Parts: sequence; C-alpha cells; structure tokens
Amino acid sequence: MAKGNSKLNEAKVAKNDEFYTQYDDIQNEINAYVEYNPDVFRDKVVLLPCDDPEWSNFTKFFVNNFKAFGLKKLISTSYAVESKHYKEGYQPSLFETSAPQYDEDKTRTHGKIFILEKDINDDGIIDVNDLQWNYLEGTGDFMSDEVRVLRDQSDIIITNEPFSLFLEFLSWIMEADKKFLIIANKLSTGCRDVFPLIRDNKIWSGKRDWSGGMWFVTTNDDDVDKIIDGQKMKNVASIWLTNLEHGKRHEPISLMTMADNLRFSKHKEIREKGYRKYDNFDAIDIPYVDAIPSDYDGLMGVPVSFFNRYCPEQFEIVTQGEGQQYFTPTKFYEYFLDGRTGRPSNAKRDYQLYIQDDEGDYLTPYGYRVNKASKRIIIRKKQ
Ligand SMILES: C[S@@+](CC[C@H](N)C(=O)[O-])C[C@H]1O[C@@H](n2cnc3c(N)ncnc32)[C@H](O)[C@@H]1O
Repeated sequence: MAKGNSKLNEAKVAKNDEFYTQYDDIQNEINAYVEYNPDVFRDKVVLLPCDDPEWSNFTKFFVNNFKAFGLKKLISTSYAVESKHYKEGYQPSLFETSAPQYDEDKTRTHGKIFILEKDINDDGIIDVNDLQWNYLEGTGDFMSDEVRVLRDQSDIIITNEPFSLFLEFLSWIMEADKKFLIIANKLSTGCRDVFPLIRDNKIWSGKRDWSGGMWFVTTNDDDVDKIIDGQKMKNVASIWLTNLEHGKRHEPISLMTMADNLRFSKHKEIREKGYRKYDNFDAIDIPYVDAIPSDYDGLMGVPVSFFNRYCPEQFEIVTQGEGQQYFTPTKFYEYFLDGRTGRPSNAKRDYQLYIQDDEGDYLTPYGYRVNKASKRIIIRKKQ
C-alpha cells in the first residue's frame, strides 16, 4: 500500500507505539461479535501479533474465554524490546526469568511466542497454566517471514498494532485475506488505501462509539494524559476496524424526513440555513449524521463519523469529497480573488468541496464567495 495522509505520518514521527488496550474495551468490543455469531471463534486459530503476551489484556481475554469461545488455538507474539522505539524501564518478568528457557540476551533482542492449544498439565481445563512460550527466532516483527507463517496459519487476527505502521499492518492482513479486528487511528479511514475498502464493504467500523477516543495504559511518562487508579493513561482518537460481522452494522440510523429536520432538528444551523448545495458538486451538505434526511434520494455529503453508524442496507457510500481519484468537481474556480486587495491568488484546480457563503473566505472569479466544506463522505440512500 502507498503511504497515506500526512496526519497519519505525524503518528510515524511521534513514534510512540507503547500504549496498551484495557480489558473492558476488548471485552465490550469482542462481545458484540460473539452476540452476533456465537460461533465466530469456534474451531478457529486466533493470532494476536504486536502484543506483549505476558501481560497483554488481549492475551488474558482470549485465554479466559478459550473454552467458552471454542477456540482451536491461540497464538500471541511480542516484539523484541531492543527493536522498540521506546524501551526504557524494561525488566523481564518473574514468569520469564523462572522458566528453564530464560535467556539473558534473548530477552532483549528476540520476540516471544505464546501458544494455548491443549490441556498440557492434564488438570481437565485449558487455562493460563497451559500456555507454552518460547523466544522467536527473530524480533517478532509482524513483517518477518517467521510471523508471516503464523499469520498464514491463523483464521482471525486481532490486535492493537503500532499506529506508526498501520498501513503496512492492514496491507499485511489484506494480502493474506484474513478475518481481523484491529484498533486504528480515526484519521486512517480517510486514507487513500483505506477508504476504498470501507466504500466497497470489505472492512467497516467496529461496534464501539467513535466519540471521546479510547483510553490506553502507557509506559511512557511523556505521554500521560491522566492517572486513573494509579495507572498512566493516554487518550487516543482511535476506533476499531474489522471485517467481522456485528449487529450494530445492520441497525439503520433513526432519521427524520427533510421537512421534519427543517422544522425540528436539534441543530440550529439546519433549522436556520437548511441543507445547502455544494457550489462545485451536485450534492447537499449535511454537517451532522443525525440530520441526514430519511427521504432525500440525491447525493449527500456527510461527516467522516458516518462510518461509525454506516448500515449498508440503509445507505451506499459513493465516494469522498476530496482528492482527484475520488471526486470530479462540476466547476473549477481556477483562482480566487483575494478578499482585501481583489488581486487573483491561490490559482487552483481544487479537488475539494466548496459551498456558497456570503461570509466565505474565498472570493471566486464568478463574483460570489465560497467556503471550503469540512471533510465529507458522499453517500446515497439505498433504493
Ligand atoms: C499500540 S501497542 C499495543 C500492544 C498490545 N497489542 C495492546 O493493545 O495492549 C503496539 C505494540 O506493537 C509493537 N511493535 C512495534 N513495531 C512492531 C513491529 N514491526 N512488529 C511487531 N510489533 C511491533 C510495539 O512495540 C508495541 O508494543
């Protein structure tokens, strides 16, 4: 996959990938898939890469539910501490140092693999005591041949991967055509490699509500937003992305007609300004997902948060309102006139939605002002 948008690349610069998912967040999300299909994990091999199996909540959660979910095999792998961008304060755990295979050098330079498959201690149950672990041959890099083999053996891949390698990670899953559930940066959905997958219903938002971001446990002191119950926590604008079915995906959004919205919408802007058409594209602009009119048949530009409510039986995603590969404006302004001096500026063939607005920032060569629309997804009601 080609590298995506610049905001995602900022995550690459920040390079702090050491934040860990809370048990409740994993449980709340996974429950949605099990409720929808109680056999979703039955007889499946689940791989948890980019983990830290000794204390990762992903590993804990699946170990605890191994029997209830009817799993065939659970594999988790971790990344060598020396390969991480942030590695301060590393101490091997007692669990590791007390094991016969403990290796003073490998503990820093090699990844680890944990496998849960059968009742090895013959106590009649499969639980944490049946986990087997060892060092990997290499660092545990998900792109290594060694972890690729594990990927190919698995049915479902679940993790919170390093955000700085999100595009590479998604591509790694898609090329193997695996089922998956991962956590991603909200901005990733608009990326040129990700948007077509969502548009074409190959991947979609998980169940969790996108508002408010998610809280993760962090080990990096420079990265703490809040201390909760003595734990250093970091808030990240993140979402679940998946190709596993869940019920929320098939719940239509409850909406009013256009006439009712114009009279009763809770948004003053809709009541006062109505639904404005774009100046350079044949669609109406809808600034709030709950203000989408239920009875409009034409194209509609909606906020990116629509993905979180998208029900493919209710709407079709047509394209997005930004970028030459997605959207051909009906009109180009060629240049804007500077509001103060009247001189032409910013010569443009701009693949971006604009709306006529008397107070707009840009004076067009046609003698009226426009404003840039916010980032929009273009949708249409399913007929
Ligand atoms: C965001 S953390 C999430 C950890 C864990 N999955 C969780 O949610 O609790 C991502 C982890 O991936 C590791 N990582 C970074 N680059 C990696 C790579 N190329 N291959 C495998 N893991 C990597 C990081 O060191 C970090 O521990």
